[in-house]
Amino acid sequence: MKKPKLFITNYIPEPAIKRLEEVFEVEIFPENRAITHEELRKKVKEIDALICLLTDNIDREIIEAAPHLKCISVYAVGYNNVDVESATEHNIVVCNTPGVLTETTADLAWALIMSCARRIVEADRFVREGKFRGWEPMLMLGNDIFGKTLGIIGMGRIGRAVAHRALGFDMKVIYYDSQVDPESVPTDYIAVDLTTLFHNSDFISIHTPLTPETRHLIGEKEFNLMKSTAILINTARGPIIDEQALISALKENKIAGAGLDVYENEPIIPEELIALSNVVLLPHIGSASYETRTKMALLAAENAIAVIEGKNPPARVN
Ligand code: GLV
Ligand code: GLV
Repeated sequence: MKKPKLFITNYIPEPAIKRLEEVFEVEIFPENRAITHEELRKKVKEIDALICLLTDNIDREIIEAAPHLKCISVYAVGYNNVDVESATEHNIVVCNTPGVLTETTADLAWALIMSCARRIVEADRFVREGKFRGWEPMLMLGNDIFGKTLGIIGMGRIGRAVAHRALGFDMKVIYYDSQVDPESVPTDYIAVDLTTLFHNSDFISIHTPLTPETRHLIGEKEFNLMKSTAILINTARGPIIDEQALISALKENKIAGAGLDVYENEPIIPEELIALSNVVLLPHIGSASYETRTKMALLAAENAIAVIEGKNPPARVN
């Protein structure tokens, strides 16, 4: 019997490819760049299943060009790049990779909290530039982390994993989440409204998905509510923050700093942001550990295989 066709828009860890080849005829986009919308639109005509990245825009046009497509398996937890409504209309199952990247992403949020608070990147640059002349009372002073207040926006799996780490630093954890049942959240953490969160947090970390409701959730008005010593961390999705408002807030010292793994128009980062010394800028590496990328690939593979075999996939979105 002929195997169904699966297309992957980029290389993912090998164990997943091997597993997929047991079930599918697998094709991987061979170029060392992102596939264009036009190329993908042509490719989906002939495939039964797709594994895509968070950078691939799977809109209505792509979905309508894919008469045999049964599964869109996103190699990410966030699936804001997929028009899920169109997929559902076309009986296409959309899947993602929740759970397996929770701890790794929480680790990275913490790496940003610590880098920003203690000026790690700036200090490293200082040493490399040959500026270190010995211990000085006022050299590279930063902010304490222990005992401070951490405000978490979005208390899902990742938000909770970030909160859990904060307990080891004797932090007070407050959170805002309009979806979650507060009863399901450990009592160590206090539910607050957004205004209270902005007013009281020393560190604010974003862990909510990008939806029409969360786009530009943080803009000029919100920066005006924050402490001038606040540090804002974003490992979720760039458009949750109004990037221009963030740049103004940083320039005008409305807040003390920001740690960003995601941007409004990736991979474009405004020059003005790059020029600021009170920001740490990472290239969207929240889930980028060897272990986790392999787990994500295997989950993306099992999702696609289950759909093709008519079973319930482990992580279904629609
Ligand atoms: C990464 O950003 C993801 O959504 O998995
Ligand atoms: C993702 O895994 C989340 O729900 O935070």
